[in-house]
Amino acid sequence: MNKKLIKEVKSSFKKHFKTKPLIVFSPGRINLIGEHTDYNDGFAFPAAINKGIALAISKSDSSNSKVYALNKEALYEFETKNIKPIENGGWRNYVIGVVAELQVLGKRVGNFNSVFAGNIPGGAGMSSSAALENSFVFGLNTLFNLGLSKHEMIVISQKAEHNYVGVKCGIMDQYASMFGVKKSALLLDCRAIASETFKIDFTSYKLILINTNVKHDLSESAYNDRRDVCEKVSKLLNIDALRDASKADLDCIKSDISNEDYQKALFVINENNRVKLFSEAIKKKDLKLLGNLLYQSHEGLSTNYKVSCDELDFLVDRAKENPHILGARMMGGGFGGCTINLILKKEFKNFKKEVSKNFRATFEKECSIYSVKLSQGTQIVS
Ligand code: GLA
Repeated sequence: MNKKLIKEVKSSFKKHFKTKPLIVFSPGRINLIGEHTDYNDGFAFPAAINKGIALAISKSDSSNSKVYALNKEALYEFETKNIKPIENGGWRNYVIGVVAELQVLGKRVGNFNSVFAGNIPGGAGMSSSAALENSFVFGLNTLFNLGLSKHEMIVISQKAEHNYVGVKCGIMDQYASMFGVKKSALLLDCRAIASETFKIDFTSYKLILINTNVKHDLSESAYNDRRDVCEKVSKLLNIDALRDASKADLDCIKSDISNEDYQKALFVINENNRVKLFSEAIKKKDLKLLGNLLYQSHEGLSTNYKVSCDELDFLVDRAKENPHILGARMMGGGFGGCTINLILKKEFKNFKKEVSKNFRATFEKECSIYSVKLSQGTQIVS
């Protein structure tokens, strides 16, 4: 599938720019567990997948840079001097944001021509944004010999998102997309920005995603609001981040904060613990516990952290009714996107049929169901 994407990008580049480009593939990600923990310096458990962004890029002698978004059939030309965020600029802000943040570091980025295309469904919570940012930072770093490490590159991608897109995201998406390992998930410590690689093999079970096709818009204030609440509570607790808090600590300030904020902070503390329990359960091959932790995570995201929606809750409820599914939860920032489900491989087809029918009957629209492969992170493709 990516071969096709890469071929399309190559041939579009040839048509537009006539030279031979560098090709970068940067994947999207799933997250097994540990949602909204990354910006709390906590733990998450993401993995890069076999869907992402393919970028063709080369240096240019002209006085500006060109980016062609193949899926949208839109060409954007810009000067690398005096870059500013574009109001409602969509994908353009990810690209110029990366260039601008490289410049902030004192890196000289020359003009370039580029074409990119992706096969991650937009708004699915699979981080097409991080894949796009990483593809450009990686491509530009290689092209202009900027000498950045992968760690430095993901911080640039994250800053582009903060300052040009307006989402105060954590580091999970950029990390997973950059550092992904084939057939593995990464137990990510978001304070150390370091991970332990776990080979993933759920034997007769597998992970599937169900996309509600409800598009979330993370730049909507809801995401940043959650982050503000967490920072406010940490400040009251006199700690750097909620990673450092226990429920007992939180209970000491319970009367000083609203019940809503209490519930949100409690969710983060519990979710962080769940990531550790999840990694232990993987080591013990305790699939039942893995599944329970997924359900608990969803419960917290929906009722305490309040980032779910009717469609996501519906899908998790259907999963709970199915004895062949061990666990399910919403994945990513929330307010739409996908659920991730741990299902008995041989029941996949039946469930797919059944859940599609029920979803259509309830919401009068379609859900989409995918299997994903855990794959390598951002890389140059020959
Ligand atoms: C989005 C953000 C991530 C993370 C998740 C929720 O994907 O980009 O940094 O906070 O939401 O876990």
